[in-house]
Formats: sequence, C-alpha cells, structure tokens
Amino acid sequence: MSDQPITETHIAIIGGGIIGLTLALALRQRNVEVLVVEADHIASGASGAAAGMLTPIFEMHHWPAKGRDRLKNFGQQSLDLWQGLAEKLSAETGFETGFERCGALGLACGVDLYGDFLENIIAKKWAKAFTTNLGLGQKQTHRQGALVAGEGQISPVQTCQALAVLLKKMGGALIQGMPVERIDFSENNSSPSTLYFLNRKIRAQKIILANGAGASRLWQEEFACPVFPVKGQALMLGLTAEQAKKMPVKLLRGPDCYICVKSDRELLIGATEHRGVDEKNIEEDDNRLLLERAEKLLPFVSRLPRLRAWAGIRPGIADHAPILDQSQRFAALYYAIGHYRNGVLLAPLSAQIMAEKIISNKAVPAPFRLSRFT
Ligand code: FAD
Ligand code: GLY
Repeated sequence: MSDQPITETHIAIIGGGIIGLTLALALRQRNVEVLVVEADHIASGASGAAAGMLTPIFEMHHWPAKGRDRLKNFGQQSLDLWQGLAEKLSAETGFETGFERCGALGLACGVDLYGDFLENIIAKKWAKAFTTNLGLGQKQTHRQGALVAGEGQISPVQTCQALAVLLKKMGGALIQGMPVERIDFSENNSSPSTLYFLNRKIRAQKIILANGAGASRLWQEEFACPVFPVKGQALMLGLTAEQAKKMPVKLLRGPDCYICVKSDRELLIGATEHRGVDEKNIEEDDNRLLLERAEKLLPFVSRLPRLRAWAGIRPGIADHAPILDQSQRFAALYYAIGHYRNGVLLAPLSAQIMAEKIISNKAVPAPFRLSRFT
C-alpha cells in the first residue's frame, strides 16, 4: 500500500456524469483546483442514457405535490442557465451540444388525469392550448394539447464530452477508469482526506460525491442514504427527413411516455421507471410497453424501424429534489446526488449552488438540504 502513487488536489469530485462535470467546470471557472475521478468513462452512468429534455413544466406531472412549484422554478432557472452554458461550450470546444428551445407539446391520451394536468398548466398560463393533427395523413383527427414554447432539449453525451474538453482546457483534471473504493476522512477537518483506488491514492482538501445511483456505496452519514436506483429503459427509432418535418414540435409529452426528435433521422421514446432496479438488461416487454404508450401519442411510431434500446439507472430520491449540501459528519465532504429524473435539466443550477456553498459557504435553498432527511 505504501508505494501507491499519490495525487494531491484541492477538490476531488467523484463521478464524471453531467452533475460532476458541470460542477467541476463551475469550480474551475472560479479558479479552484479540481480533479474529477470517474469509475468508467464520462457519461457512462444515467447521463449517457438520458433523453436530454429540459422540460420543467412537463416534469411537474411526475413530482410530489409538496414543493412542486418551487422545483419548477428551479428547473426554469436552470433551463435559462443552459442557454449561456451551451453557447459557451460550443464556442470554446467546437462541440455541438444540441441545445435548442424547440418547444414541448403535451397530449392527453384518452381518459386519464393527464388532461386535467394539461388544462391546469394552460389555466396558469404556463402553456398555451394547441391543436394538432400530428402529421398523421388523411385519417387523422385533430387533437387538443398544451404547448410550452420555451422548453427544449440537449444532447447529454455530446454535452458531457464538451464539458470534459473545456474543463481540461481550463486546467481542470479528469481521471477515467478509476472506481473510488473508499474514502478516509481525517478527524482533524483541516488535514486532507484520502480517496483509495485499487492501485492509487488521492489526497484532497474537499471531496464531492457526485456518483449518481452509486451514492449509497460511498455514503458517510449516520443515517441511511436516501438515494435509490430507478432503472429507465428507452428506445431509438429511425425517422425519415420527411417524417421529421411533419412533426409539429420535436418534444411530445404524454402521461407515461415521451417522444423526442433527436435529429432528422432519429426519434427517441422514453422511458420506463423501475424503482429499486440496479441493472441495465434490455427487456423486450419494456420495449413493447414503450411502443404501446408512444403509439397513443404518435400513431405512426409503430411503423418506424427500431435502431437501438438501452437502459440507465437514475439516482432516485423520494421528493425528486437533489441533495446539494455539505455533510453533517465530515466538513470536508459535500454531496451533489439524487437528481432522479432531472439531472440534465438541473445541472447548471446545481453546479452554481454547490460552487457557492463550497467556496463562500452560501446557504443552500431549503429543498436541497441534507437536513430534510434527519
Ligand atoms: P450519473 O450520470 O449516473 O453519473 C455518475 C457517475 O459516477 C457515473 O459515470 C459513474 O460511473 C460514476 N461513479 C459511480 N460510482 C463511482 C465510484 N465509486 N468512483 C468513481 N466514479 C463513480 N434527466 C433530465 O434532466 N432530462 C431527461 O430527459 C432525462 N431523461 C432520462 C432518461 C433516462 C432513460 C434516464 C435513465 C434518465 C434520464 N434523466 C433525465 C435523468 C438524468 O439522466 C439523471 O438525473 C442524471 O444523469 C444524473 O446525473 P449524475 O451525474 O448525478 O449521475
Ligand atoms: N426525465 C425523463 C426521465 O427520467 O425519463
């Protein structure tokens, strides 16, 4: 053990997903020395599986009633932050992030409570009533929906790549293929803590846990980790440029399914939710379920060729709000975990809140505090 190579850094971030990378960049932009340690490769976790929707209003349908409006406001703030961040990433790295405020359209699928949800967001003036025939051909009937013009999407994998490139360009460090096995905290809060790998040690003044659904494996509090795995399976279908042009908007939202036109060749259907499931096997039953649900939104999906199916593990949390806070047990430890269905959306705001907490000890907004679990 004693001849293991040792790396020293000011801040070590565990996890190279969208949350760890966005935070690393935010810290680097504030001149902090930072190192991201990723077990596999960047975006190998939930971030690489995500659809990339930036749709706070439509996500409200999935959140518990308590705190829903505040989460929506945070989501909208973060969506606004994406605009500037995506522009910066493209300008500085030459990578396309796929960021666009293309609008999202919610459609009720028969008799269900989703119609009430859509009416409610129209009544609150968060969405506008919208009639569409969805480009279905002669047989179509017109359908009423709710359009949120300012919502949009991004390509999560390209964005993570751009974040990593810009981080390195600005002097930040990233190690991939290195699972952190344990963290040893010094009892004396002023001396560095140590991260242990199979054949390497890293000493850091501060450590941030941003390891998504793996959070419970490195959790350090004296109560159980509130983050649990939620498997999500999704499908990509092939689209012709002509079909893509007929779509009234690129994002369609239904009660239990969504459709995203990701390019003029690809249409994504997402996603299942299996609580407590921590494996990424592709289930044919889930593919069928996704297609059945998507057909209710857009009947011609059943005729599209299937390109691929994949699954990711969301870092679930009961109230759908992440933990963005300092540990109650070790002053050197911080958490940026539990982004559940909304890590892509919330990444820039989470990064800002965390950076301000770490550098200036600015208070974290109440919905994101660790103390809500104690
Ligand atoms: P992750 O992306 O999982 O990153 C954590 C990283 O930590 C991983 O790369 C992992 O390898 C690494 N790690 C774990 N343990 C260790 C260790 N011991 N040492 C070192 N590294 C470690 N969100 C949206 O906002 N919009 C969407 O449209 C959307 N769609 C989704 C669709 C699907 C199918 C799924 C599954 C999720 C979707 N999400 C969406 C949710 C979003 O993907 C997550 O909230 C987000 O990716 C969480 O990011 P993260 O960085 O916390 O976690
Ligand atoms: N936010 C979409 C999903 O998690 O599937």
